[in-house]
Amino acid sequence: MSRLAVRLAGLELRNPLLSASGTFGHGLEMQHIVPSSAVGGLVSKTVTRKPRPGNPLPRIKETEAGFLNSIGLENRGVDAYVRDVLPAMHGADTIVVTNLGGEKVEDFVELARRLDGQAAIDAFEVNLSCPNVQEGKLPFATDPSMAARVIREVRAATTKPIFAKLSPNVSRIADLAIAVESAGADGITAVNTVLGMQVDWRTRRPGLFTNQGGYSGTAIKPIALRCAWECARSVKIPVIGCGGVMCAEDALEFLVVGCRAVQVGTASFGDPGLLGRMAQEMDALLDQAGVASVTELVGTLRPWDPPPPRAERSATASTSTSTSTCSASVHPAARGAQP
Ligand code: FUM
Repeated sequence: MSRLAVRLAGLELRNPLLSASGTFGHGLEMQHIVPSSAVGGLVSKTVTRKPRPGNPLPRIKETEAGFLNSIGLENRGVDAYVRDVLPAMHGADTIVVTNLGGEKVEDFVELARRLDGQAAIDAFEVNLSCPNVQEGKLPFATDPSMAARVIREVRAATTKPIFAKLSPNVSRIADLAIAVESAGADGITAVNTVLGMQVDWRTRRPGLFTNQGGYSGTAIKPIALRCAWECARSVKIPVIGCGGVMCAEDALEFLVVGCRAVQVGTASFGDPGLLGRMAQEMDALLDQAGVASVTELVGTLRPWDPPPPRAERSATASTSTSTSTCSASVHPAARGAQP
């Protein structure tokens, strides 16, 4: 195994880098720029039972630090996917993950059943978290029991590994992670886009036809890292980090917080060749840091010790004889911090 290879739910990935759903076609559209042999895996655009035209325009807006989108799961439906896309995916020299979308539990189940026998597909990513359908209500991503129901029924419909793609638009993502793990998910993708909005104050119009949409790109990396970390420390199944990954350093950060692999999404719009170069860049960074294998980094975060309880803290402060302007119980990183 090379130093970048990782195992994910029984699958061998040559490196931990995958394309994120919806940012790379179904995968092979980009092979003239990024050969499939350069990536750990390709995740398809969401496939639904029936063709979907998607939401009306405008449905993509660039912002100061990322993208707002409201595509609305446009795709040609599962029949066209099986007929026109999958035959070529047999030639992909990498892991192929098909992202499944639906509005009802039965939609996910039927898709999993229909695609279970397709040899070109290595795994499913169950899109519980698209913010651009069902008026952004995210019914499967915000209710642990609904998320578990989808995963349980998809689990019964396929023998392929299933990854549950979670939303950052919840207060306790760990509850969702635990729910999908108990329901039989083999992994978790953390996370989908953050609900956002853009407004033109002159016209008083929102930038997107649907008023709100999914925000992605560099600005959401701290949110995604925190979500991925919370998932990774709450479950045993592997977590695939996603959100704001713009370079190899970013991807390594996700591994440190506990992810086994990482998806690259919005960055590919600005630099379509990025995903093809990132593995080499990651290899060079590991070399410089003297890290023998990428798996050595996974989950090696060294969190700061939590501060002592408040009562203990004030006792320490009042008995301290230190002349330092900082109390010994104040973490060095917090010194000088503004309230
Ligand atoms: O609108 C969309 O097609 C986005 C999908 C997603 O974020 O899952």
